[in-house]
Amino acid sequence: MDPLLGAALQAREQAHAPFSGFKVGAAVEDEHGRIHTGCNVENATLGLTVCAERVAVFKAVSEGARKFRRLAVAADSAGLTPPCGACRQILWELCGDIEIILANLEGQTERLRLADLFPRPFDASFVR
Ligand code: THU
Repeated sequence: MDPLLGAALQAREQAHAPFSGFKVGAAVEDEHGRIHTGCNVENATLGLTVCAERVAVFKAVSEGARKFRRLAVAADSAGLTPPCGACRQILWELCGDIEIILANLEGQTERLRLADLFPRPFDASFVR
């Protein structure tokens, strides 16, 4: 198995999802090949929940990573779970048009580009 996908599946095991029960794992590969993982972390207010993708990317940035190659997302869903809108915005700004690998627990996978999921983004180019 692709080690990035393996890392996302493993990270999913750490999900803190007592409200939804929906566990998600993510893993992002930086330009040096280092893998940074994240899981969703829910909160009683619900609105303060942070998705696995953002946890993975924020962890990576906090550890000094600045360029990224690929992101894997793993969830137990029949239809493959894509990043939510908030995560698409953050991923676009911090990772650019990276490859995204979606996977479920049945071994189904799909590869796509962030630009296909998030066309016509608002980003720093508008505010500089
Ligand atoms: N969630 C993620 O972590 N990533 C996604 O791509 C979709 C949704 C989480 C947020 C929340 O903890 C749970 O899944 C249900 O929405």
